[in-house]
Amino acid sequence: MTAGVSLAAGRGYLAIPGPSVIPDAVLQAMHRPSPNIYAGELVEMTATLIPDLRRVARTDHHVAIYISNGHGAWEAALQNTLKPGDTVLVASSGRFAIGWSEMAEALGIEVELLDFGTGAPWDMDRIASHLAADTAHRIKAVLAVHVDTSSSIRNDVAAMRAALEACDHPALLMADCIASLGCDRFEMDAWGVDVMVSACQKGLMVPAGMGFVFFSPKAAEARARLPRVSRYWDWEPRANPEEFYQYFGGTAPTHHLYGLRAALDLIHGEGMEAVWARHHHLARAIWAACGAWGADGPLRMNVQDVALRSNAVTSLHLGGDHATRLRAWVEQTLGLTLGIGLGMAAPNSPEWHGFLRLGHMGHVNGQMIMGLLGGVDAGLKALEIPHGSGALEAAASVIAVAGSTETSAPSGLSCCG
Ligand SMILES: Cc1ncc(COP(=O)(O)O)c(C=O)c1O
Repeated sequence: MTAGVSLAAGRGYLAIPGPSVIPDAVLQAMHRPSPNIYAGELVEMTATLIPDLRRVARTDHHVAIYISNGHGAWEAALQNTLKPGDTVLVASSGRFAIGWSEMAEALGIEVELLDFGTGAPWDMDRIASHLAADTAHRIKAVLAVHVDTSSSIRNDVAAMRAALEACDHPALLMADCIASLGCDRFEMDAWGVDVMVSACQKGLMVPAGMGFVFFSPKAAEARARLPRVSRYWDWEPRANPEEFYQYFGGTAPTHHLYGLRAALDLIHGEGMEAVWARHHHLARAIWAACGAWGADGPLRMNVQDVALRSNAVTSLHLGGDHATRLRAWVEQTLGLTLGIGLGMAAPNSPEWHGFLRLGHMGHVNGQMIMGLLGGVDAGLKALEIPHGSGALEAAASVIAVAGSTETSAPSGLSCCG
């Protein structure tokens, strides 16, 4: 190739860990004039979203929708369950758990933080002893980020419920599934989660702007015991509206709702098990490529243990300023945007330029992931960043096995390796 030629024209690819690629069906559903918000089609359609959201969260219980990002959902969850002076336990495997704890502190909530750093999952023994030592039950809730998007560690939410049960602790279990929902298996009711927060711009494939708080009857009781709840954040009218506007505490996010309808149709048309299996196979292809690159060069996956890796995002370390250079090269030359590293080094430090993340959440398929990996491979070569060979072959082999399993499986069955 002649030096300096740009290959970026054509459809760009945003491979950051949220917002994610928006399906054409979602964009088309949103491309319409404003609907009537008092009666008619929008009102009827909105009611259909609730059971379909529940099916994504795997809960039979309540959901409240907010015109917000994930931070809004965090705040809503805290505002409906806790009051100033209450104590929460936060188990951290990355920047987002810290962020949720800081939000709690700002609301006057006492935080007990068990920080396991950015390279390790929750240490369930330490958590279990911490909970068991709380015989007075000062801890009212455990804040648990399922997938921390900064580190790409996936924590075991069911084990957190087991730890609470083991010492008969009544604290609410509150999970952040902002990165994981629709990508990594999550079973709200089966895992005993009382509150789950998420947002629409990652696995749900809708432009940023809607937050969701799912809550159990036990969490609803905690809300009922509070002396007061912020009128705007109150989940009660949102989950049980008598009037349409109460779903949203005001004007509906009209176009986002149409987008969400289309996204939920895609998700349930494919099936939750198949959606999770797709994410898992594609993630495995990415890890295979990363393993090959790292065999002879500085590239390292942040999470060494495959069982702890999220299917939605992969955090990488390249060292030096390699990550910043690689991101710039693939964006300018190929139209491929990779995620910055987050929470791994101070933003103004030289080390910051050594980290990056690959987002593989939502509307992604085999050819997109092969394109993503091909782009990274080309960038490593163009920038002469040392790397092992055979990454694309390794990824293609994973994809090939997934494809052949899929075609040989009876229709309707999904495969998950
Ligand atoms: C796990 C997790 N929690 C919370 C947030 C915050 O969400 P938002 O940026 O939409 O406010 C994010 C955003 O990336 C996230 O990944």
